[in-house]
Amino acid sequence: MKLERFLSVSDFERAAAKRLPRCVYGYVRGGTEDEQSLRANYQAFDSVGFMPRGLNVVDKRDTSTELWGRRYRMPLGIAPTGLAALVRHECDLELVRAAKEADVPFIISGSSSVPLERLQEESRENWYQAYFPGDRVRMSRILERLEAAGIGVLVVTIDTCVAANRENNARLDFTIPFRMTPRLLLDGVLHPRWSAGVFLKTLRANGVPRFANLYEEIGPPITQEPAHGFRTGRDRLCWDDIAWLREQWKGRLVLKGVMHPEDGQKAEQMGADGIIVSNHGGRQLDGTIAPLAILPSIINAVSTGFPVMIDGGFRRGTDVLKAIALGASLVFVGRATLYGAAVAGASGAGRVLSILATEVDRNMALLGCAELSDVTSELLARKTVAPL
Ligand SMILES: Cc1cc2nc3c(=O)[nH]c(=O)nc-3n(C[C@H](O)[C@H](O)[C@H](O)COP(=O)(O)O)c2cc1C
Repeated sequence: MKLERFLSVSDFERAAAKRLPRCVYGYVRGGTEDEQSLRANYQAFDSVGFMPRGLNVVDKRDTSTELWGRRYRMPLGIAPTGLAALVRHECDLELVRAAKEADVPFIISGSSSVPLERLQEESRENWYQAYFPGDRVRMSRILERLEAAGIGVLVVTIDTCVAANRENNARLDFTIPFRMTPRLLLDGVLHPRWSAGVFLKTLRANGVPRFANLYEEIGPPITQEPAHGFRTGRDRLCWDDIAWLREQWKGRLVLKGVMHPEDGQKAEQMGADGIIVSNHGGRQLDGTIAPLAILPSIINAVSTGFPVMIDGGFRRGTDVLKAIALGASLVFVGRATLYGAAVAGASGAGRVLSILATEVDRNMALLGCAELSDVTSELLARKTVAPL
């Protein structure tokens, strides 16, 4: 496959939409209820525009960025995405490889299927995202597993206390745990490349993908409810648990799903090392403000230099530069790299990252900036409708 023919993230989405069964594509693309949050994420980039500077010398450019003393080649990372095994055979592994090659962080999802110990063999720099139950005995056991595997950054998702209302999944018969239905079988028959290359290949190689990284043990196949339940106890996780976690966990601690300035402040006060401003890609509460729109207020609420990362709807280098201009330390993408992986595994996800990196570099120059620290809010204006 000629990956150079794919010029943008949207090119990968179109190809992935053809390749994946409708229910799998729907699971990846979709939001919740009326998809207001999902639309808000994309629209937010349209509400601010650049005021580029001319005649700045930009012949030597540097898009690298530093986080906690580690320099990454670009201000991007791969967000945690659960059940990626449905998109590509051993997709978690393919994404780790793409992140390693591109020199960006990768966050292992708590709902992923390749055991995290195996992913750590591929790269020792993975972060791990937890869906913690509000039960400290069980949390301690998970922490032990993470420590033993050499995980350095723990990301706790805080926006998923209950299951969201994903009507589009229900309409397409897609459930978690995953259940085979006649409609899904037909969907598979109509997508033979996926059935042979993902479904049957995975069944033959490893059996049904598992909830491998949700709890302290390798969990059951994704067609079964884990012994403690998939979501049991998540609605009891609270700030006291975060304070407790901070005492127990010696590595970096990040809260993901922060959408309120006071929660950003609280996270910092409790000793978190950073936050990810996120509405879960529009997949949890519908009707939220876009992460990009709330980013400035959250950055205002925390101390200067406290790492505030972001995700939600990023598909272009210009989107990334808008978040950097507003003060984000790093931008994560979820769907973009999954579409890349659906098309061509690690090479496809890698091509997505390299398209975004090239766009960041080119557009940074067009803005009149030689490095990311030159990209500030002084180059941004809120778009207004011009009077007639
Ligand atoms: C298919 C899919 C699965 C996801 N699974 C998880 C998950 O297991 N844990 C989590 O914290 N976020 C999960 N997310 C949310 C992403 O981490 C991220 O917040 C979101 O995808 C960013 O938006 P974007 O897809 O528009 O880039 C998932 C998103 C998608 C699209």
